[in-house]
Amino acid sequence: MNLEAIFRALRVGPLTATNRLMRSATHESAADIDGMPHPVPMKRIYGDLARGGIGLIVTGHTFIHPHGRASRNQCGMTGTAHARAWAEILAAVRADTHAPILCQLTYAGRQGFFAGPTPAPNDKRQKLPPPGTSVNDFAPRQLEHVATTFAEAAALAAEAGFDGVQLHMAHGYLLSECLSAHTNRRDDDWGGPDRARRRRLPLSTVDAVRAAVGPDRLVAVKLNGSDYLPPLGVEPEEAAETAALLAEHGVELIEVSAGMAEAGMKTAQPVQGPDDEAYLLPAAVEVAKRTTVAVASVGGYRSATPMLNALSEGIDMIALCRPLVREPEFPRNLQHNAVHTARCVSCNKCFGLVRGALRCPLDHPEPIE
Ligand SMILES: Cc1cc2nc3c(=O)[nH]c(=O)nc-3n(C[C@H](O)[C@H](O)[C@H](O)COP(=O)(O)O)c2cc1C
Ligand code: SF4
Repeated sequence: MNLEAIFRALRVGPLTATNRLMRSATHESAADIDGMPHPVPMKRIYGDLARGGIGLIVTGHTFIHPHGRASRNQCGMTGTAHARAWAEILAAVRADTHAPILCQLTYAGRQGFFAGPTPAPNDKRQKLPPPGTSVNDFAPRQLEHVATTFAEAAALAAEAGFDGVQLHMAHGYLLSECLSAHTNRRDDDWGGPDRARRRRLPLSTVDAVRAAVGPDRLVAVKLNGSDYLPPLGVEPEEAAETAALLAEHGVELIEVSAGMAEAGMKTAQPVQGPDDEAYLLPAAVEVAKRTTVAVASVGGYRSATPMLNALSEGIDMIALCRPLVREPEFPRNLQHNAVHTARCVSCNKCFGLVRGALRCPLDHPEPIE
């Protein structure tokens, strides 16, 4: 089997991915109460990925504001202390790779369950509603503040030395919640049945972020190709239309994912054999047909044949999460043995680890940092 299509470099926006394999954002479970990344496990996680030969790296979801935090051990990008901590991690990781590294930025919205340290009275954090607030309950000026807060976080990520950012518009977090008619029930200019209104916050966020980081950084998006929530949830046709607009606003890489909390485990589905692989490819192909920017497909890639098939269907990058948790050296293993299959068995036990940083608990039941 010829794997040249997988191991060819790709020019994406101002950057070059060293091959077509991309690390899909994966929560590291490795931050303190202030969202500061713990350097030891973070250097392990990203160092292993760098040495494993991945072509482009996206961090785990990183909160842009204390009220948009999804969990206690989530990393943040809300101030210069965060940027400095990430700069140290990036400097260590860059020694082992030329792969571009993006910071995934997110605001959890109704899926936010943890506030972090309580804000002081008159703290500017009060400009945004408490964690867990749905898009339907934001005041318009608070939605405007979300866009500027994403831009501030993106500027901090650039200061830290990231090559760009990936804006999280998937899985039911605030920007995804905003895009979906299933969740966005507003009756003003920020939502409701009208697609253009539901896209207002995501597109204005892209504009603000692009202005903040300039042309030399990549602005990417992770987008739901399907919410799996009929009849109102996003489906591939609507996602493809949104993707075309995101590209017009300066997004240069769109990763197509799926699912929301109430849809069940549609994001990280079971993969028991070759027939289960690439389970979100049709939505990514729909998106790729509507846009000229790079498109990544995520979801269940475990071996070369489905990857080559996706690339032949117009997909530019193959994104991987669980295979790289168990086997960060998966790209090198595949390159050396074209019939290699990921060692990950897709059991999802690495989701929501109670103790310790990201790892495969089948191989490492105890924390390893
Ligand atoms: C442990 C774990 C953590 C994850 N963290 C994130 C995250 O921070 N941001 C995100 O967009 N998706 C996250 N995901 C979803 C993955 O990026 C990916 O979309 C999904 O697992 C399907 O890809 P896979 O079959 O290659 O694992 C996570 C998944 C797992 C298993
Ligand atoms: S815990 Fe399961 S899903 Fe996660 S990396 Fe290990 S084998 Fe894969």
